Amino acid sequence: CGIVGFIGQQDSKDILLKGLEKLEYRGYDSAGIAVMNKDGVHTFKEKGRIAELREIVDEKVEAHTGIGHTRWATHGVPSRVNAHPHQSASSRFTIVHNGVIENYAILKREYLQDVQLTSDTDTEVVVQVIDQFVAKGLEVEEAFRQTLSILKGSYAIALLDEQNPDMIYVAKNKSPLLVGLGDEFNVVASDAMAMLHVTDQYLEIMDKEMVFVERTSVTIKDLQGNVIERAPYKAELDASDIEKGTYPHYMLKEIDEQPVVIRRIVEKYRTENGGLTVDKEIIDAVNSSDRIYIIAAGTSYHAGLVGKQFIEGWAKIPVEVHIASEFSYNMPLLSAKPLFIFISQSGETADSRAVLVQIKELGHKALTITNVPGSTLSREADFTMLLHAGPEIAVASTKAYTAQLAVLSILAAVAANGKGQSLEFDLTKELGIIANAMDVLCGQKEEMEAIATEYLSTTRNAFFIGRSVDYYVGLEGALKLKEISYIQAEGFAGGELKHGTIALIENGTPIIALSTQEHVNLSIRGNVKEVVARGANPCIISMKGLEEEDDRFVLPSIQAELAPLVAVVPLQLISYYAALHRGCDVDKPRNLAKSVTVE
Ligand code: G6P
Repeated sequence: CGIVGFIGQQDSKDILLKGLEKLEYRGYDSAGIAVMNKDGVHTFKEKGRIAELREIVDEKVEAHTGIGHTRWATHGVPSRVNAHPHQSASSRFTIVHNGVIENYAILKREYLQDVQLTSDTDTEVVVQVIDQFVAKGLEVEEAFRQTLSILKGSYAIALLDEQNPDMIYVAKNKSPLLVGLGDEFNVVASDAMAMLHVTDQYLEIMDKEMVFVERTSVTIKDLQGNVIERAPYKAELDASDIEKGTYPHYMLKEIDEQPVVIRRIVEKYRTENGGLTVDKEIIDAVNSSDRIYIIAAGTSYHAGLVGKQFIEGWAKIPVEVHIASEFSYNMPLLSAKPLFIFISQSGETADSRAVLVQIKELGHKALTITNVPGSTLSREADFTMLLHAGPEIAVASTKAYTAQLAVLSILAAVAANGKGQSLEFDLTKELGIIANAMDVLCGQKEEMEAIATEYLSTTRNAFFIGRSVDYYVGLEGALKLKEISYIQAEGFAGGELKHGTIALIENGTPIIALSTQEHVNLSIRGNVKEVVARGANPCIISMKGLEEEDDRFVLPSIQAELAPLVAVVPLQLISYYAALHRGCDVDKPRNLAKSVTVE
């Protein structure tokens, strides 16, 4: 979910709605705004997208203060009733909240016995408790403070008090939140991108702080009531990066941006004499560790699997790759000198952050590889490496994945160098070749569209197979396809199919097989024969030099270890066209959010 707030002199409705549109990547199943003027608080909410909310907002209501929310359902189905903002029983207080209040049932039992709740959300409990505390005679600030101190879980909160139209009460714990500063106005937002249309000056808010946002002032306090001074920073974001331009979808734009991103990464990590460099303290941390633990979710996890190959192969350090949500309660026995690498496009994924908090408590060091400078995972880790991919808006990650692979390859290569182990090839040069190969692939969209039409226009399921790193790319290809086209797609190791999955093969089942690695080329082709013998419809994507007559598509030749960077591009495009032809919402697939800030 994402939240926004505005307090100033202009009408707040459009500023809030524009902010929410920019936050839709955090969830888009329902949305709402509440604006406050001398007549009181006016709340508008709707199931669905911000565009639908816009239609029901009463243009005639003018208000200089307001809050807004776009939701990714956790407690309670997506509906108008469960959409935020939520109001207290007395209707004095109105709240928006991103996060999960873990003890909401306890709070309900303890404080709200006599209150009739109107929604199924954990959020409503918060605003009702504040209301109860005020009803018992507490000042609003004290009621807010006491409520925050009994909340367990994650929250970014913005609260309106009908009796005080000159203030937005704000607080956060674990969920991201910033306060933006303007001339005669101030704003609240889950990220800087949301309010970039009004300001680029932001104040970081830390966990367990409360903030009192007025038109001309912002006061930060800790939960003991002590005032905290903090200087603002400038959000280094280019507003034009977050526009779609002439593209029909962000996903297509972002796929096409990949060659530029790879070249930019080389530029950012290049030394004056043409080599590659990474901060010395990062390389020291990598090379003094005896085992690396990569923690990530979704596409970033798939990037981690490939990263493991780079680091183990080149820098000769053992690497384990873990799904963030499993790690916390399934922690493996750690080595004596572990280093944690968090891979996260957004830098906000709550599952990953939970692990970061846990391992920091154990005293371990962490490096975050992220696309978002200043994101939670970046701020809280010891070191950060940036992806420089520019904002990624489409829910299905594309350019961030290839950027993650490129940055991981640079990290592994520089670490290897630091140990006196040089690579057998020039990585700078190879990344240049990869960028050119991506250009070629992005110019072959008609071919990708034809493959999507041929194999995926009516199928219920599809399988991706590969061996070695091709297996990892297949996992990512399958994830892309299922995320946006809703085709049940799974990636499998070529050799593992026969141990169960082959039972699913029917006449015509599409099998997308990758063959970019010489040492497994014959074995994967053997696996293809096994499924063809059972009726499957094979689509072999091979690399130049390994191609055979029946292959459906041949990738330009690149250094084999780096093949995932190019092999994924056709899979991204095939998924895009499959989703498009099946009438799916490519950029905002159902049930998903770009950045999942709840565990
Ligand atoms: C969500 C997105 C995925 C993404 C994952 C991890 O589930 O829908 O596309 O890969 O989060 O996100 P992160 O920002 O941590 O890379």
